[in-house]
Amino acid sequence: MKVTPWEVSGEIDYERLIKEFGTSPLTPELKEEITKIAGDHVMLRRGYFYSHRDLDVALRHYKEGKGFFLYTGRGPSGPMHLGHLIPMIFTKWLQEKFRVNVYIEVTDDEKFLYKKDAEWGEIQKYTIDNILDIAAVGFDPEKTFIFRDSEYIANAYPLILKIAKKINFSTAKAVFGFTNETNIGMIFYPAYQVLPTMFEKKICLIPAAIDQDPYWRIQRDIAESLGYYKTAAIHSKFFPPLQGIEGKMSSSQKESAIWLSDDEKTVRSKIMKYAFSGGQPTIEEHRKKGGNPDVDVSFQWLKIFFEPDDGRLRKIEEEYRSGKMLTGELKEILVEKVCRFLEEHRERREKAREEIKEFMYEGKLASEMWGKRFE
Ligand code: TYM
Repeated sequence: MKVTPWEVSGEIDYERLIKEFGTSPLTPELKEEITKIAGDHVMLRRGYFYSHRDLDVALRHYKEGKGFFLYTGRGPSGPMHLGHLIPMIFTKWLQEKFRVNVYIEVTDDEKFLYKKDAEWGEIQKYTIDNILDIAAVGFDPEKTFIFRDSEYIANAYPLILKIAKKINFSTAKAVFGFTNETNIGMIFYPAYQVLPTMFEKKICLIPAAIDQDPYWRIQRDIAESLGYYKTAAIHSKFFPPLQGIEGKMSSSQKESAIWLSDDEKTVRSKIMKYAFSGGQPTIEEHRKKGGNPDVDVSFQWLKIFFEPDDGRLRKIEEEYRSGKMLTGELKEILVEKVCRFLEEHRERREKAREEIKEFMYEGKLASEMWGKRFE
């Protein structure tokens, strides 16, 4: 198993990651505390968000009236897939429930530096394309600031320098696995991903998949010495690829992902062709032995996100396990849900073309942030 912010491979052992990264499991008590304030969310209830750092501290600050703010991001290396949208959807939910500011970093610099064959113009095209997808999630324009690294740098540079000065190469090497071949841009970049955790003198809470945690580890070592709080984080597992539940839906394996731009025909053919099935090889056998929803990608996608109704999910599970429901029927349920979701997403995306300016420059928080210089 390998999990870094840039590469995930092998069969992922999520419990081992908690130990290796030194994070804490999201306990039922802590979930209960969020639920008391914010109500329930399918991704919490069903264990998709499963680990954290100092979430209890962020909640305490909230209750004491000190508040917190949210921060998440996206590296615009290409079009976005379903996996990229999931942390955004959860972040939006937290914003709505806690009524807090959200900062979204779009790391055109990181992706240009990391991808060997990346062209600057190409990355810029994806930056705009991705920001539309992010805006379509429905963040509150009054409380949200979406920024692109290469554009915001002038405001941010003094504080980024202070951050960079605190991190030595041996730490960066140990945390990120940099080698002699790593370009020096990549070695500097982590300072920029740490910066937004210091946008306010409040505790920051970061919803993201667990692959981003190495940055937070570094942040937590240095934040207090710069007069800021150690960041809190809430980590999700990975949205699985079509090929099997162990991995990560990934841009670099094209057939593993459903893209936000995939039309109905494409979604149907990908799910029918590639979605790993827990069913039996023949209908007769399936009717007799039943299917295994625990390894079935279609069922797991329904469980993580696409079927939030517990009663309906249970019914699907029972029917599939007993052999009453066939794999084709299960896939059909998923195809319909995914297509409806994507259709609605794309409608919101079109509307977001108008709103995008608000998020980036003209909204209240946006304009405040645009002029704000971080020393
Ligand atoms: P990026 O573009 O690789 O991923 C964007 C966000 O999506 C999460 N993610 C996934 N979540 C579930 N299932 C998947 N298959 C999956 N693939 C990716 C990532 O964890 C991330 O939350 N360096 C970052 C950009 C960034 C950022 C941040 C992300 C800057 N600041 C703060 C999170 C929080 C990146 O390249 O993300």
